[in-house]
Order: sequence, then structure tokens, then C-alpha cells
Amino acid sequence: MRGSRRLAFTAAAAAFWLCVPAGAQQASKSTKGTKAAEAPAAAPGAAYAQRFAQLCAACHGANGRSDMPNTPVLAGQHSFYAITQLFLFREGRRANEAMSAVAKGMKDDDMRGFSDFIATLPPVPAPAPSTPPDAARMARGKALAQEHKCVFCHGADFSGGQQVPRIGGQREDYLKMTLQEFKSAKRVGYTMAMAEAVGRIPGEDLDTLAYYLARFPIPPVPPGPSGPSPTK
Ligand code: HEC
Ligand code: HEC
Repeated sequence: MRGSRRLAFTAAAAAFWLCVPAGAQQASKSTKGTKAAEAPAAAPGAAYAQRFAQLCAACHGANGRSDMPNTPVLAGQHSFYAITQLFLFREGRRANEAMSAVAKGMKDDDMRGFSDFIATLPPVPAPAPSTPPDAARMARGKALAQEHKCVFCHGADFSGGQQVPRIGGQREDYLKMTLQEFKSAKRVGYTMAMAEAVGRIPGEDLDTLAYYLARFPIPPVPPGPSGPSPTK
């Protein structure tokens, strides 16, 4: 259905182009230089990079590395997870004053555009916690993450995937807050997965998990177009 509509559109566009007098076609070709210069800004990816800088970076950081208390790092987050959360904010199923206002007027295409852009930001850890990791607390956090099967869904390196978020290297204050909110049902997930995962975990252990996850070392970004160039 969609395919045939697109085909029909292309055919109509071609027919239109054939009807344009040759002189006009020539004129349009001669202005190709300026058109080409405009093209990158018109590409959806570039447009959302710009809109992210204008509308989101003030809170989430220019590269998605948030410096703001209780505001999540978005860098390296998965497109599917991000779009799901934007949807929950827009529909009022996840509530936060700032984000509910941001998501309220978003069209589906905007949610897709922002989420796809977020997924292109290479993962970076949140600004380093002020205290050096305490070995005993890190070991306890690691044991809790095994015991409560966090690794089962979020992965052994906590990088997540699809609708499961990356949680390693996230801000500690945000992790602490959001885990407590899943437990108290203030934050309702897209599924019941998190409510079930944390329901029986004492608040104190959730804080230890947040401590551990925030300090979990993020593997270096592989060299590539968006990553740093190889040093050797
Ligand atoms: C005024 C500050 C502010 C602005 C501007 C803002 N955000 Fe947020 N954003 C937040 C906060 C705070 C949260 C965490 C909300 C919560 O605690 O539930 C959040 C959460 C999110 C999440 C969920 C992340 C996660 O790990 O669950 C996404 C996705 C997101 N924001 C995308 C955006 C996008 C895209 C924009 C720009 C169009 C934007 N935000 C603009 C403050 C902001
Ligand atoms: C059965 C799979 C599953 C298990 C087990 C699980 N999670 Fe999750 N987790 C998810 C999913 C799915 C989400 C996305 C929430 C939603 O549905 O909106 C999530 C979200 C989160 C978030 C929110 C991240 C953000 O950016 O807002 C944190 C933090 C988190 N999980 C930590 C944990 C911890 C800690 C454990 C272990 C105690 C755990 N999870 C166990 C599937 C799981």
C-alpha cells in the first residue's frame, strides 16, 4: 500500500518534471551549486542535530553528556529506547515537568528524528563522580547486579540494546532517583520488567547499584566516523 503510493508519487513527480519547459530545467541546473549547498541542512539527520543543539543540549549536554543534576546522559542510548520514552512522556505515562513539556508537541517524525540522532552520539560516561570508587561498594554492586539479573537484560557491560537502555556510566543521581521511582511505581515503564526487577530490592541496595553502575567503566569508543581516530 505504502510502496504503491510512493511509486505513484514518483511517477507524478517525473511527469511534472517532463512538463517543465527545457529552459526552466536548464535554469534549475545552473543554480545546482546553491541547491547542493543547502542540501545537507535539509537532510533529516542534520536537521535533528541542529534541533538537538537548540532544544535539548542545554539540559542533556552538547554531546548528550549531561552536566545537570538528575538529568540523564543520552549519548549512546538506543534509538528504540529513546523513542519509547519520548512516547511515554508525550502520552503522559512518564511524568517530568521539563520532559513532559518538551515531548508534548512532538510529532511522530520528531520523536523518530531525535531518537535516531541520539543513537549516533558515541557513548561517554557521565562526568566523573567526585569520590574515587570504593572497592568494597563496587564489589557489592557487582554482586547485586548478578543476583537480581540486571545483567540478564541490560548485558554484562550494561550497554543494553533495543528497548533496554544503556545504564553503565549513567549519572549516579539520576540512576538513584529513577530506580527508586520504579520501586515506588512513580515511574511506570513501557513494560512491567523494571517494576518486577526492583520491587523487592531494599532502597539501600538500589543506591549501591546506582553507585556501581555510574562508575562502571565504559569501553572506549571504537574508531570510526563518529569515534576518535586510532592512536596507533
Ligand atoms: C529543561 C531540561 C530538559 C530539556 C530542555 C530536555 N530534556 Fe530530556 N530529560 C530531562 C530530564 C530531567 C529527564 C529525566 C526525566 C525523569 O526524571 O523522568 C529527561 C529525560 C529524557 C529522555 C529519557 C532518557 C532516559 O534515559 O530514560 C529522553 C530520550 C530525552 N530526555 C530526550 C530529550 C530530547 C530529544 C530533548 C530535546 C527535544 C530533551 N530531552 C530536552 C530534561 C530535559
Ligand atoms: C527483564 C528485563 C530487565 C531486568 C531483569 C532489569 N531491567 Fe532495567 N530495564 C529494562 C527495560 C525494558 C527498561 C526500560 C524501561 C521501560 O520499559 O520504559 C529498563 C530500564 C532501566 C533503567 C532506566 C534507565 C534510564 O536511562 O532511565 C535503569 C536504571 C535500570 N533499568 C536498571 C536496572 C537494574 C539496576 C536492574 C537489576 C536490579 C535491572 N534494571 C533489571 C529491563 C530489565
